[in-house]
Amino acid sequence: MVKAISEGAGAFLQHYPRVAVVVTAQALGHENAMTVDWHTPLSLNPPLYGIAVAPQRFTYQLIAESKEFGLNFLPFEMVELVALVGSTGGWQVDKFQSFNINREQPVKTTVPILEAAYAAYECRLVDDREYGDHRLLVGEIVAVHQLKEVFTPEEMLNLNIVSPVLYLGHEHYLTAARETIREIL
Ligand SMILES: Cc1cc2nc3c(=O)[nH]c(=O)nc-3n(C[C@H](O)[C@H](O)[C@H](O)COP(=O)(O)O)c2cc1C
Repeated sequence: MVKAISEGAGAFLQHYPRVAVVVTAQALGHENAMTVDWHTPLSLNPPLYGIAVAPQRFTYQLIAESKEFGLNFLPFEMVELVALVGSTGGWQVDKFQSFNINREQPVKTTVPILEAAYAAYECRLVDDREYGDHRLLVGEIVAVHQLKEVFTPEEMLNLNIVSPVLYLGHEHYLTAARETIREIL
C-alpha cells in the first residue's frame, strides 16, 4: 500500500475516534449545552482542563460572560442527545427545554450539570486564547461529580457497567468494547 503525501491537515487532523462530551454554561438568563470532542486534561496540580471552542458558538458567549463551564461525560445510551446538542444552535433553541434535559445542582459554580452524566467537572475559566478558528478555553476543575459505581478502584471506567460515547467523524458514533481491553505490563 502506498501512503499519500499532502500539505495541510485534512479531515483526519481530528484524529478520530475521540470521546465526545457535553459542555454546559449559563449566563445572561440563558443556559446551554454543546458537544465538544476537542478537549484535553492539561495539568493535575492545579487540575486544569482545556476545550477548543469556536467563537461563534452560543456556548462560547455564555462562557466568556460567566467565566465558568461544565464538562459532562454521558453514557452511550445518551448518544442521540450528544448528537443533538452538537447540531443545534443555542441562539435559536432552548436545548434544555426542547430536548428535556434533566440537570443537577452544581456545587461550586452556576453551570448546569447533566443528571445523565456518569462524570462531570465544574470549571472556572483561567484562560481564553485564540488559536486559529477556535479558542482554547482553560478551566480549573473546582468540583468533580462522579457515579462512583461505574469506576474501578483505580478510577478507570468499568466498561462492564458504562460505555463511553466516542465520535468517529461525519456523524458516526461508537463505543469502547470491553472485549478489546489488553493489559500490557
Ligand atoms: C461530535 C461533535 C463534536 C464537536 N466538537 C466540537 C468542538 O470540539 N469544538 C467546537 O467548537 N464545536 C464542536 N462541535 C460543534 C458544536 O457542538 C455545534 O456547533 C453546536 O451546535 C454549538 O452549539 P451552540 O451554538 O448552542 O453553542 C462538535 C459537534 C459534534 C456533533
